[in-house]
Amino acid sequence: MDKKPETELLVAHSSRGREASAYLSFIVDLYDELPAYSIFLHSNPEQWHNDLFGPQTSSILKSLRLEAVDAMGYLNLRCTNNPGCPTHINPNSPTQADIDNNDPRAKFPSIYKGIFGDEAQVPERIGGICCAQFAVSRARIWQRPKSDYIRMLNWIDEKSVPLVDDYGVGWVFETLWHIVFVTALTRDGSQGKIPDGVRVVQVNYDDDDSLVKALNGQQFLVITLGVRAPDGLHARITTAAGRAGVPYIMPNAYGYPISPEGVKDEDPYGNLVLDRIHDAQNGVSSSVTLPCGFWYEWSLATGEQWFGFTIKDRKVTFFDDGTRIITVSTWDQCGRALAALLSLPESGSTPALADFKNKEVRINSFRVSQRDMLDSLHRVLGTTDSDWDISYESVAKRLADGAEEFAKGVFTGMPKMLYGSVFLPSNKEADFAGTMELANDILGLPKEDLDEATKRAVDMVAAGWNPFAGV
Ligand SMILES: NC(=O)c1ccc[n+]([C@@H]2O[C@H](COP(=O)([O-])OP(=O)(O)OC[C@H]3O[C@@H](n4cnc5c(N)ncnc54)[C@H](OP(=O)(O)O)[C@@H]3O)[C@@H](O)[C@H]2O)c1
Repeated sequence: MDKKPETELLVAHSSRGREASAYLSFIVDLYDELPAYSIFLHSNPEQWHNDLFGPQTSSILKSLRLEAVDAMGYLNLRCTNNPGCPTHINPNSPTQADIDNNDPRAKFPSIYKGIFGDEAQVPERIGGICCAQFAVSRARIWQRPKSDYIRMLNWIDEKSVPLVDDYGVGWVFETLWHIVFVTALTRDGSQGKIPDGVRVVQVNYDDDDSLVKALNGQQFLVITLGVRAPDGLHARITTAAGRAGVPYIMPNAYGYPISPEGVKDEDPYGNLVLDRIHDAQNGVSSSVTLPCGFWYEWSLATGEQWFGFTIKDRKVTFFDDGTRIITVSTWDQCGRALAALLSLPESGSTPALADFKNKEVRINSFRVSQRDMLDSLHRVLGTTDSDWDISYESVAKRLADGAEEFAKGVFTGMPKMLYGSVFLPSNKEADFAGTMELANDILGLPKEDLDEATKRAVDMVAAGWNPFAGV
């Protein structure tokens, strides 16, 4: 930072932090009179990281579409997602080399809380397009109060001193600008916990205009409504997204591959999922569906009516003989898939997000049977079959019992039917990782260790895991 800036120019509040303090000082000084769009650039006319149109920044600016800034709110001027994506920093698990080298990566939890506030929940992984040149709309800047930007500047000037040098401050912000300007939608009165670094916009689901307003300027809407969300809410959200011009919607359909031809009239769950995908294709938006199979840790830990296991009592019900293989995914793999998908260029090269318009992004972690799960539990718990109460039940009986229980209002009849239908020998999609093309390689997803995932489920049970407490 120039220690003696020209007097007619804005002066940065801190001489630390390179472009970061200049950008933040501009926002703080002009917060109430910001132009509709702000474009933050490095000063030299040529930059190595200008990609599509050569090193001249002026060439990029000629190609920048303000419609794109309107749609995205925050738009990096670089398109190539390497370096930076999908993961640049693992704040909670730095490498030994980072610790030994006193790298900022080794101190990232303190850095993150200093920038986003002490209560901020530090993400497990951070990744974003590099190089700190971007356009941002006034509306997006205003989604944070001025006090947030002042806190960031104060961090640069004072609190960052024991953690990073001047260059390090610029590097830190380069990895975080997309988080500074990201937004999460939640409803009035939600009990959900959103990471504190993320700006939250409250919506009122009973007011369609409030939904449209909140969705304005968003490029990709991910819907993860819980099972207790009211019927019809999904369709109202997707309709509002269409009115707001959101180009992509990931509908609430995180299960198995599905097509209209494969769903029978008497299959209420299959028809519900088809409706949700159809809702997302609203004439303006395209759907991008993420079939990932059953969530492995979630389904193993939740109880007998799901994967047949009651881990704390060492009991398992094998469906038929327990050897039918199905496709499953861990939570981490689903999260990684979504992050990698959203790190792809929107279009113009391959792979691109647009390749998945109105299509499925099929991913997986494992192909496993209940027998494989029990063997993995043995390795994790140090048990053998003789320590477990193992019983057998035909899938046909399970489906019939589930339907009867559900008709009587017993909630757990539903998972019995849902999981039973996937373990049916006639289900052609249950082991889709063995029969259909996956997006794992396109998204750069890692191979995972089954026993590590099983251990997470065991730990969840030990910690009293129950997603349906109070139902
Ligand atoms: N593949 C699998 O094995 C598997 C397993 C479980 C779930 N899933 C899927 O994952 C998605 C999320 O399920 P989940 O169990 O994780 O959900 P959840 O945590 O129970 O709920 C997710 C969100 O839904 C909103 N919500 C909940 N109840 C609502 C209500 N009455 N009205 C309005 N909004 C409400 C809440 O958002 P706010 O409070 O922020 O508004 C909540 O944070 C669903 O699509 C589900 O089908 C898949």
